[in-house]
Amino acid sequence: MKIIMLGAPGAGKGTQAKMIADKYGIPHVSTGDIFRANIKNGTELGKQAKEYMDKGLLVPDELTVKILLDRVAQDDCKNGYVLDGFPRTIPQAEVLDEALTKLGEKIDFAVNVDVPDENIVKRMSGRRACLKCGATYHIEHIPPKQEGICDTCGSELVLRDDDKPETVLNRLKVYHDQTQPLIDFYTAKGVLKTVDGTQDMKDVFNAIVAILG
Ligand code: AP5
Ligand code: MG
Repeated sequence: MKIIMLGAPGAGKGTQAKMIADKYGIPHVSTGDIFRANIKNGTELGKQAKEYMDKGLLVPDELTVKILLDRVAQDDCKNGYVLDGFPRTIPQAEVLDEALTKLGEKIDFAVNVDVPDENIVKRMSGRRACLKCGATYHIEHIPPKQEGICDTCGSELVLRDDDKPETVLNRLKVYHDQTQPLIDFYTAKGVLKTVDGTQDMKDVFNAIVAILG
């Protein structure tokens, strides 16, 4: 099963994608996580990506598309995957579509996690992320067992550099300009499903499972 998560920054794509990956036994592929791992490891890709990410801008398609296509070509993606944060522009969606068509494959579901802008800024300032394993928490809604420490791998939790309120507002603008058109793109392909992302995260997940089957 091949699934795309759509939604504004902070809508809960990552949270839901991890739960989907666990339930259906498919990898969770997040371009944001791949970039953050590269930044942490000081790679050239990481250095380039950070310049854009810290401003709330999209990393250029030339850098993004290749790493994503390489990732989904790996063995563990044979039976499907859940993409979180990709595609984010119409050109990215078109490249993915072409690559899949060549393999005789297609996206089965594009799940749009719908959360109004007003809710987003509040959520982001409470988010804490583990840069080692990609786990995310929220200081109010999903606190770690021990403050500031990842439940999964024991690493330190941080407020992402791009979660500052002014950067979040920029990310929202970029989302509306460049990513929201994908809703029409996947509606036209007949695979778009929208869930109400303002519900409790377990209810959001139940709504998604009802769609995926
Ligand atoms: P990326 O890492 O993809 O960030 P994003 O889209 O901005 O999304 P987030 O990870 O911030 O939010 P999310 O929807 O995953 O929400 P989460 O589950 O954490 O990308 C970062 C940057 O990398 C981009 O800005 C761009 O520069 C670059 N990039 C990445 N991919 C790219 C691409 N394809 N092309 C170009 N550039 C790219 O939840 C948010 C918070 O809310 C958490 O604290 C969570 O615990 C909490 N929460 C989740 N669900 C609920 C709920 N139901 N109720 C209450 N709280 C909840
Ligand atoms: Mg995320």
